[in-house]
Amino acid sequence: MKAQRERWGSRIGIILAVAGSAIGLGNFLRFPGLACQNGGGAFMIPYFISFLLLGIPLCWMEWTMGRYGGKLSHGSLPGIFDAIVQRPWAKYAGVLGLFVPLVIFFYYTYIESWCLAYSVFSLAGTHAGVTDPAAMKTALSDFQGLTGGRHMGTAYAFFLVTFAVNLIVIYRGLARGIEFLCKIAVPVLVIGGVLLVVRIFTTAAPVTGHPEWNINNALGFMWNPEFGALKDPNVWMAAAGQIFFTLSVGLGAIMTYASYLREKDDVALSSLTACSMNEVAEVVIGGSIVIPAAFMFFGPAGAKQMSQSIFDLGFVTMPCIFSRIPWGEVFGFYWFFMLFLAGITSSISLMQPVVSFLEDEFGFNRRKAATALGIVCFIVSHACIFGLGAGVLDEFDFWGGTMAITLCALAEVVVFVFWFGINRGWKELHSGADVRLPGPLKYVFYITPFYLGGIVLYWAVFSWIPWILKPCGIELEITLVASPPFIHAVAAAGAVNPVILYARVTLLLFLLALLALIHVAWQRKRSAPASA
Ligand code: ALA
Repeated sequence: MKAQRERWGSRIGIILAVAGSAIGLGNFLRFPGLACQNGGGAFMIPYFISFLLLGIPLCWMEWTMGRYGGKLSHGSLPGIFDAIVQRPWAKYAGVLGLFVPLVIFFYYTYIESWCLAYSVFSLAGTHAGVTDPAAMKTALSDFQGLTGGRHMGTAYAFFLVTFAVNLIVIYRGLARGIEFLCKIAVPVLVIGGVLLVVRIFTTAAPVTGHPEWNINNALGFMWNPEFGALKDPNVWMAAAGQIFFTLSVGLGAIMTYASYLREKDDVALSSLTACSMNEVAEVVIGGSIVIPAAFMFFGPAGAKQMSQSIFDLGFVTMPCIFSRIPWGEVFGFYWFFMLFLAGITSSISLMQPVVSFLEDEFGFNRRKAATALGIVCFIVSHACIFGLGAGVLDEFDFWGGTMAITLCALAEVVVFVFWFGINRGWKELHSGADVRLPGPLKYVFYITPFYLGGIVLYWAVFSWIPWILKPCGIELEITLVASPPFIHAVAAAGAVNPVILYARVTLLLFLLALLALIHVAWQRKRSAPASA
């Protein structure tokens, strides 16, 4: 007999778990960097349009289909798609809901471990007195093993600790692991973020000779709208990409979390609450820390340049600033530990879909599922750790965090709109709901597939094809032009990158292995009654 599925211990528990999954490194590093590069305040226009047309509908779809799947003892995309679509191919399409979170997990945990390491370095004063960004960048590269591997052992040790903590949380289960951690970590990280915002907002112009590098101008630099940026389709695409990443939608994690709800638990209000918490953490807290601080200490040109790399913003700019302020060790610790907590509450949600798959479809118990998954994740993560300099981490981010996440979101939308049905979905969303959503909002579900379909098409042509060809030795630049045929392509010969090609083969084998697992799971189920 199948074991009873786990349940959340409390309503606040699942809201904080979903908010924890959403609030991550993307809120405090990726968002401010993108906003600064893409029109400042004007970026918020495409950002909120994407939030309303993609983010919120996808959250509702994931929560609704997740709770529905949970009733039928399915918590991951293959099982949920199979139950809704009832066609043999559907479970294989659900492979994206296993592939995407794991590929992101492979590199995300490593970055998360840098945050833990830097929080310890801050307290230990490892970088005290280093105020020059170039010197801090060299220290970061040393730590990452990019300059001859001098300090790689330290980075690896912190990775082991971070990986072990992730695994322990998953091992302990839903209520005792994920919920317990998120109930502590999410409030702590929000308080840490607010403290940092207060520290920055109460800092007088810190650089002698530059009274204009003050907080008022810093906020103006971050938020004054450059409306001209809105003519650039890439700005709209960047906003849509950020919405996927920040809300953790399109990767199956929220659907899995929702599958552990009870049949009559609210989803409409809880999902909105978790989304709102993420937006406050992103726009209000995330938008008030790195870029305003970079402006006040390095001026507009320095801040603009630093915003180009989110890693530099977090691990070079901020430590340089902490080296210059009183109590910098303590604030540095707050900053990096806050990032670590934001990271771990996201990374555990990336493991859960596969744990749920192994439990629901193979009948594994949690410990067996966590151990099996832990071994695979541990092995594959090494590609990102040791291939960082060769670009393997960026390559995994492209396939998992950029391309497959969008395709997975598209698959979810198609299944919801065409198989689950918008009317049935709206009814299911309101079953047990604590709020009645205004009726016209239902029509947003009709717009989402077209908006998302357009984005996928644009990305495929202008971004994905050039990226895919580059390591094969073809530099392709595709641009939009005003006259027919509206697309202009220029190709040039480039260098072949064998490391990246190996990384792609690894990912392909991984995808095939997941497809084989789905096949085996369903074969076993089919043969189970006969052997019973
Ligand atoms: N939603 C997570 C983040 O923003 C993945 O980092």
